Amino acid sequence: MIEDGGKRFWNRYYLERFWAMATRLKCFQDMNEQIFSHIVPDSKAIVLEQGCGVGRNIPLILDSMGIDELSGGKVHAVDFSHEALDLAKEKLSNPVNVVFHKGNMSQLSFADETFNAVFDIFAGTYMPIKGWKLGVIETFRVMKPGGRAYFLYFIHGRNFGSLFKKQVIDEFFHNPAGLYWAMHLKLVRGLNVWDKFIANGDVVYPEWEELLDIIKFSGGIVEVAEESFLGACIFVRAIKS
Ligand SMILES: C[S@@+](CC[C@H](N)C(=O)[O-])C[C@H]1O[C@@H](n2cnc3c(N)ncnc32)[C@H](O)[C@@H]1O
Repeated sequence: MIEDGGKRFWNRYYLERFWAMATRLKCFQDMNEQIFSHIVPDSKAIVLEQGCGVGRNIPLILDSMGIDELSGGKVHAVDFSHEALDLAKEKLSNPVNVVFHKGNMSQLSFADETFNAVFDIFAGTYMPIKGWKLGVIETFRVMKPGGRAYFLYFIHGRNFGSLFKKQVIDEFFHNPAGLYWAMHLKLVRGLNVWDKFIANGDVVYPEWEELLDIIKFSGGIVEVAEESFLGACIFVRAIKS
């Protein structure tokens, strides 16, 4: 998605509360549990969340890293959507150990080797390929040696939309309220929009190999690589050499 178009798109998405509602669904909760079960805790860590959106992952990052007001750790959260950042600040009521930044993931304003951990949860996957590759290189540039990157991405060719449609009944039994919201927001229909974006190359949805290759190129060593959501997504944890 070209940058300005992308920003406009996400601002509208957040105003419509689409993503916030979609992520109430069980399948998103399951994927978060998967990531957070692989976190290496470090209560003093300086952490970056790329494309933080409305901040739904921040309490989980703080909790699973063991960061609190006294531990010395901090989360820096970056997004290029001012709507997202405003909602995140409102929701989290500006905790002392979280700092929000308006910025572009493919051109970070942080110095080399600033962070102990970087999270990219469904963020880089929504960039066009060139911006995304620059973003992964930036992730490793700003990470200290020995730091860890956590990626959760949709994967090319394993269409989340069509797999999700098959999950609808299961979703209802686990989360009737979530499914109500999904229908209310016409989630299933909305998912088809992504097919167009992927076909145009507006969003990357990389192949497994593309993600693993760019991590290696950027100086990362893959520690965990697992399928998520019936193979529609990939979770990767990598350490900077
Ligand atoms: C699908 S949302 C994910 C939000 C959050 N990570 C979550 O899991 O709830 C993708 C986010 O990436 C942000 N984003 C996309 N491209 C970006 C870029 N080039 N720089 C900064 N943020 C970007 C969007 O504004 C949006 O908030």
